This record gives sequence, structure tokens and C-alpha cells, in this order.
Amino acid sequence: MPHRERVRSNQENVHARPDSATGRRYEDRWLERWISSTEDLARLQYSHRMLDAVIEEIDGRMIRVGDQWLADYASCNYLGLDLDEEIIAAVPEYLARWGTHPSWSRLLGSPVLYEQIEAELTELLGAEDSLVLPTITHIHMSVIPVLAGGGTVFLDRRAHKTIYDGCQTAQARGAEIVRFAGGLDELEQLLRADEWRRPGLICIDGVNSMTGNLPELAEYAALAREHDVLLYVDDAHGFGVIGERSPLEPCDYGIRGNSVVRHLGESYDNLILVGGFSKAYSSLLAFIACPTAIKQMLKTAAPPYLYSGPSPVASLATVLEGLRVNAERGDALRAELARLTGRVLDRVHELGIATPNRSGLPIIEIPLAESDRIDEVGDLLFDRGIYVTMAVYPLVPRNEVGFRLQLTSANTDEQVDHLCDVLGEVAEQFQLSRETES
Ligand SMILES: Cc1ncc(COP(=O)(O)O)c(C=O)c1O
Repeated sequence: MPHRERVRSNQENVHARPDSATGRRYEDRWLERWISSTEDLARLQYSHRMLDAVIEEIDGRMIRVGDQWLADYASCNYLGLDLDEEIIAAVPEYLARWGTHPSWSRLLGSPVLYEQIEAELTELLGAEDSLVLPTITHIHMSVIPVLAGGGTVFLDRRAHKTIYDGCQTAQARGAEIVRFAGGLDELEQLLRADEWRRPGLICIDGVNSMTGNLPELAEYAALAREHDVLLYVDDAHGFGVIGERSPLEPCDYGIRGNSVVRHLGESYDNLILVGGFSKAYSSLLAFIACPTAIKQMLKTAAPPYLYSGPSPVASLATVLEGLRVNAERGDALRAELARLTGRVLDRVHELGIATPNRSGLPIIEIPLAESDRIDEVGDLLFDRGIYVTMAVYPLVPRNEVGFRLQLTSANTDEQVDHLCDVLGEVAEQFQLSRETES
């Protein structure tokens, strides 16, 4: 039998083969495993007002769900650029010039707006070059498999789900995936072992989307260089929020918002940075900062550059205008964001509530001591007009179930006053992890 048919026939056999103990087919068992891993989330999605909500109206950072107005602490619009009057006013001119959506794939042709974005972004990041595609998910799914080839991906257990998905595609194309949960020590041991296949790629998050904390980037980068592998960093939440340090910085977030590599004073040697505009910049575009040779290679090797539609013109416009606003008043917006976040963190500490946040960045997770009361906590928050992310399994490990607050510079002091009061009520009525335990 020819090889391709043999492979197909084997796959069909595996999928059709009933499990000897239960008699169920592979597809059914796979589906059951998948459903059981997402059942907590699915149950809340059906039953809870805080999930899958229809938002009927917004007013600044207030949103209306049904009859209830809530202060929004679930968006990642960290700089508040989604509401920025100057940016909103600038968009129609781009639409008049370019239409709503010239839908060539990027390989066929790109409006010159892309050249402008990549040039400005490369300068901001201080990288050798950059390439933009619609989303970070597109980038992980297409770039990780290319960089991994038939080699080994060392994947941090805490990395974002979309990195996992990219790794799965890489695995299907012949890469080996090695997960590590023990941080740098375990990674170092793995890299020192001789038996792994090259090339090697280490995948980690920049600012973690749940804890708000920074990785030990210098140490990861040093290991990558020592073992001649690439370090691939997803800084979706750091880009626009943290940046290079300066004696003139108005807050600890640094200046210019040029991401984790610059914030921690690292270089781009052996390091690939991925980030996006969909959070701090409130737009739909993502980037990979990499050497020009890799960019050129990706233009024919990364499927979204060849086969996917591009971002809408309104998104390209809000990126360019966002970069302009960032240069003019981004540091003031970040200082406001840091101030509001500091107010909430002070209150959390005053109440003795544990949070994994050690960075002071605007992602504040509050784990519950009684994870099965998440619905009730959500009800209280909703009734008091506070909209949060319900952090249930599999969004977080089972022992970290709770809720996540994200601040933006468009939240007001009145909203934060109210949030601080409601946090007091939550701490009174529910058992939260206490600070000493974390
Ligand atoms: C760390 C991280 N990476 C990637 C993504 C996905 O980004 P995108 O919407 O651009 O695909 C998210 C979105 O929440 C994220 O938090």
C-alpha cells in the first residue's frame, strides 16, 4: 500500500477503533474529554449574566447589559484609546481614501499603510524588523510551526492557550513539544540533556494574562543564547503598557509602551517578540518583531500572509493614529493607568486579600478560597454594577478560580471608589485567599 494511503488507513482505524473497556469510539472519547475540560466554563456561559453578555450600549467605561449599567473591568483597552475622540475623528478620512476593506491577502499586495505601521513599530520596539498580521492567534498558529520545524518546542506550562494551539500545529508537522512547569531550573535541565532534536524554540508569555506578572526574561534569554535556541515571547498584555526605563518616567511602567524586552533592558538576540494592538491600542492587528531574514521567510511560509484576509482599514487607521497618540501623550495615559491600578491594589492589600499580582500592572486576579462559590461572587459583583472576567477552569488552574479585574486609563476615580467599596463587601461575604497564604 502506498505510504500516504497507509497513513490514512491507520488514522481511520485509530479513530474508528472502539475503546476496549467502554466500547466507545475515539471521537466520542475525545469529545467527552473536551467537554469535561470546559464544563465549568460552559455551565457559567449558559447560566451567568457575567458571561456571553449582550452589551447594548456603552458610555465611557460604563456598559449596559439589559437594564443594568456596569463599570467595565473586563476589557483590555488599557490606554482607553477605544474612546479617544481624536482617534475616532481621524478614521473617516482613511475610509474615504482606502475604502472599508481592500481584501487582498498581504502577499498579493498591501496598502502603503502597512509599510508605515511596520516602520513606526520597528522604530518604537528598537527591533531589527517587524511583520504585522491580523491577530496574535494567526501568528502563533502559523509562525510557531515554521520556527519549530522538525525540532523541539519547550513550552512553559503557564503560556497562553493560543501558544498551546500553535504548538499543537507544530507537533502535527513533526515537532516535539516538551512542557515545563518548574520555571528556569527545569528548563535548564531539559536544555542540558543531549537527547532533544534541534532546532529548539522556547515559548513563554511576556506579561502574564492572569497574574499580571513579568517573566524572568533576562534569565530565559541567557539560556536561549547559551543553548543556541530561539526564545519566543508573547507580550500581548505588556505592549502599550510597559516600556523602556527612563529617569524621566512618570510611573514605574516606564515610557513609550514599547513592551517587555525594552522594559527589562534586554536585546533581541535569539529573541522573537510577538504582540498585538487589540489590547492597549484597541485595534485589530498583531506583530512579530524579528530579524529581516525571518520576516522575508515568513512572507511565503506563514499561511496568513498568503491566504488570510487582512485587517479592516479602520483597524489600520486606529493603529497609525494610536501610534501617534502614544508618542504624544501615551506616557500620561500610562501614568493615569498606574495611578488607578495602584488605588485598587492598595485596597486589595488593605483588605488582606491575596492576588498573584506583584508587578503593579493593571491585571488583578482575586482567587477565591471556595471556588464553588464563583457564581455567587459573580452575582454580587453584577448586582453592584461591576463587570469582571470570571476566571474559571480551564482559563486558570482549578486552585486559582476567582475573578480578574483589568483597569484602563478611561476608568474614573468614582468608578474606582465604588469598586473599592464592593471589594470590601466581597471580602466580608466570601472567603478569599488571604495575603499571608499566597
Ligand atoms: C497572552 C495572549 N496571547 C494571545 C491572545 C490572543 O490575541 P489575538 O486576539 O490577537 O489573537 C491573547 C488574548 O486575550 C492573550 O491574552
